[in-house]
Amino acid sequence: MLQTATTIQEIRSTVRAWKQQGLTVGLVPTMGYLHAGHESLVKAAVASCDRVVASVFVNPTQFGPNEDLATYPRDFAHDCQVLEKAGCHLVFHPEPSEMYPEGFCTYVENLSAMPQQLCGKTRPIHFRGVCTVVCKLFNIVQPDKAFFGQKDAQQLAIIKRMVKDLSLDIEIVGCPIVRESDGLAKSSRNVYLNQSERQAALVLSQAVRLGQELIAAGEKDCATILAKMCQVIESTPIARIDYVAAVDGQTMLPLETVTPGMLFAMAVYIGKTRLIDNFSVAN
Ligand code: PAF
Repeated sequence: MLQTATTIQEIRSTVRAWKQQGLTVGLVPTMGYLHAGHESLVKAAVASCDRVVASVFVNPTQFGPNEDLATYPRDFAHDCQVLEKAGCHLVFHPEPSEMYPEGFCTYVENLSAMPQQLCGKTRPIHFRGVCTVVCKLFNIVQPDKAFFGQKDAQQLAIIKRMVKDLSLDIEIVGCPIVRESDGLAKSSRNVYLNQSERQAALVLSQAVRLGQELIAAGEKDCATILAKMCQVIESTPIARIDYVAAVDGQTMLPLETVTPGMLFAMAVYIGKTRLIDNFSVAN
């Protein structure tokens, strides 16, 4: 049976009781409007932890002034159904004032070039907000493991770096991208797409597939691969490239030659909706 908590105090006392019984705890941070991608994170957590906490919190500090904070899709009743079905034990659904009390002024920020690459170019404050809220969630829940999707590959790399730099005793587990049957990566923002945009959005996964095929065929030059991926995307008039990049999987800095573990990542506007996708080169 899924329990709901809205305060930090409720979470702490429930988790404390679990830990006193020697149970391990997994955390799945989310912004809600859950889909099969989130469900896979919860299932991975259930498979490897005794108790699972999911957070549903649309975090204001990771949205820029002209972004979709106000319109970000929300459906907490449905989220609870998804979480319960996936075997989650406790959902944390705080008000913004619980997470950011009056006078809040302390942030967690990665000061390397990593957060300014890829999504950071158009979303300059995004990763500071993500690190701050995730660090707070880690402190509130104190999980043994936390689960994040590889679709947000830059976020995952930045969180791993934060855990290392701040000596947090938490294992970060990255889980594979979950796709629709036609290839589109699952995202809460897919709900913004109308019928023709939904069709056009397939260019992201088509570009991913092309990149993978070129590498499988032995292509080593990142610029050649990126140019061909861009060509696929640009063949659709309503697709506008934000970035398509080939980067080191840990630092997010550009690479010229295909290297094991590296990342090919993209953000593309389909109409007004900005979608991301990526693939990693096998190690
Ligand atoms: O990936 C997300 O949904 C968010 O960035 C996260 C990790 C829940 C932090 O708000």
